[in-house]
Amino acid sequence: MGKTIYILNGPNLNLLGKREPDIYGHETLADVERVCATVAGENGHAVRLFQSNHEGEIIDSIQRARDEAAAIVINPAAFTHTSVAILDALNTFEGPVIEVHISNIHKREAFRHHSYVSLRADGVIAGCGVEGYALAVRRICSLLG
Ligand code: DQA
Repeated sequence: MGKTIYILNGPNLNLLGKREPDIYGHETLADVERVCATVAGENGHAVRLFQSNHEGEIIDSIQRARDEAAAIVINPAAFTHTSVAILDALNTFEGPVIEVHISNIHKREAFRHHSYVSLRADGVIAGCGVEGYALAVRRICSLLG
């Protein structure tokens, strides 16, 4: 039976493709949705992508995932490094969680090296560009079986 995987994206990722393309590349969030849907579909699952610039809306979507999703792929963007509230929300979710960063946060400024979300994530992918989302969905599919 096909399951739903939530693909959650934090602030400024609506500008993906236009925003600092030297760091984040030229692909857009629509491209992210397409690659994730392809990988999930190959495994009999479906994705729902959500992006918000607002911390509370991301928390609301994680709470919705408790009822509607079997797994979460999340790029919390800058909230990665600041949000105990997103960590707490993820801790209420029982399925697998994979954290994705388009850039390699460990190669960048020191303030990007710490992730609150990694305290909950079952896996972390960083520095693989938009392909990182596809890798994350692939991993989720093997965890979901
Ligand atoms: C990011 C890395 C974060 O440090 C940054 O604030 C982002 C995007 C990434 O995908 O590489 O907005 O999560």
